Amino acid sequence: MTILVSGGAGFIGGNFVLDWLDHFDEAVINLDKLTYAGNLETLKRLNGNNRHVFVHGDIGDRDLINNLLAMHKPRAVINFAAESHVDRSIHGPGEFIQTNVVGTFNLLESVRGYWDGLPGGEKQAFRFLHVSTDEVYGTLSRDDAPFNELNRYEPNSPYSASKAASDHLVRAWHHTYGLPVLTTNCSNNYGPYHFPEKLIPLVILNALAGKSLPIYGDGQQIRDWLYVRDHCSAIRRVLQSGKVGETYNVGGWNEKPNLDVVHTICSILDELRPKVSGGRYKDQITFVKDRPGHDRRYAIDARKLERELGWKPEETFETGIRKTVEWYLANQDWVRNVTSGAYREWVGRQYEVQL
Ligand code: NAD
Ligand code: TYD
Repeated sequence: MTILVSGGAGFIGGNFVLDWLDHFDEAVINLDKLTYAGNLETLKRLNGNNRHVFVHGDIGDRDLINNLLAMHKPRAVINFAAESHVDRSIHGPGEFIQTNVVGTFNLLESVRGYWDGLPGGEKQAFRFLHVSTDEVYGTLSRDDAPFNELNRYEPNSPYSASKAASDHLVRAWHHTYGLPVLTTNCSNNYGPYHFPEKLIPLVILNALAGKSLPIYGDGQQIRDWLYVRDHCSAIRRVLQSGKVGETYNVGGWNEKPNLDVVHTICSILDELRPKVSGGRYKDQITFVKDRPGHDRRYAIDARKLERELGWKPEETFETGIRKTVEWYLANQDWVRNVTSGAYREWVGRQYEVQL
């Protein structure tokens, strides 16, 4: 049997593919456009593994997807592919609409055509799992209850609005056409192979490089952090046992203000890699202009997933963030290639494409 994963060269998709192949013999077709966020170096240890087939392409390319589905006959499609960075969505929302909305629409249409033509048992067993975010629910104030699956969608950024739109398409393809879909809405992830435009890897790498650690606004915005491997295990669980047509919130019960997250990273670095010049990493913290429309607080109520499917995260924030800092310290090659941009040149040579 085979699964098709889109966006599997990105942060979460890449961790998912590595994790999947560590757990199962089932092959993975990995379709990725290799935008700036796609990095084949993440998948380097799969070189020569015939259970992993990488395909360079766009979820919006129906001919390509139709061919891939017909050729590999996956029993499930898991859609990670997206533009994912809020700040980029503010500067240039067009790509977000194109991939997250139009791309998801095209992918759904290709998958619907394929699923329609499957024989009875395979048709019944097929799943389309859409990976989404808690940001679709908007923002919470300090005293609000965490988001559950019944919260209204109130997206506030171009990124979250485009993800909300994609969730609605997925829902409608189930309701109207009967496509067997599952949707997961997860909180902020962190862990290995995270592109250093996002808060946690940015702070680790800037700290080590002696650069400033930019905190937007007052740094009191709250995010609910989940170690990426826990997200992978939640997706596997939902794929295996989730009820068709349902959505599941995924979270780590780890709400932290941004400033606390940055202080924690700084103290772990003080311990593991003391500054040669003396002083503390936290001295590099700089408060900068706030992000426009910055959501104040996200928090996930993950009890449905625990109650109905028996899933719980394994890592606390304290264990996960230490592992993450240690991973960045131990994987300087990956870091160097990302920060220098060399990973893009390598990909360009490998696939003879202009990136
Ligand atoms: P990412 O930006 O690291 O990776 C996205 C991947 O998708 C990249 O490899 C990119 O090349 C690929 N891609 C982009 N456009 C494509 C297209 N049109 N066709 C094929 N591939 C394309 O993102 P991530 O952090 O790994 O997030 C993965 C998914 O999880 C996204 O859907 C995101 O909305 C969701 N999510 C992310 C977080 C988080 O904290 N990072 C939390 C909850 C949900
Ligand atoms: P980010 O990692 O971009 O994820 P998201 O916006 O999807 O939650 O940002 C996490 C939080 O950290 C968010 O509140 C914005 C803040 N932040 C900073 O304060 N400084 C930074 O340099 C970055 C990238 C983010």
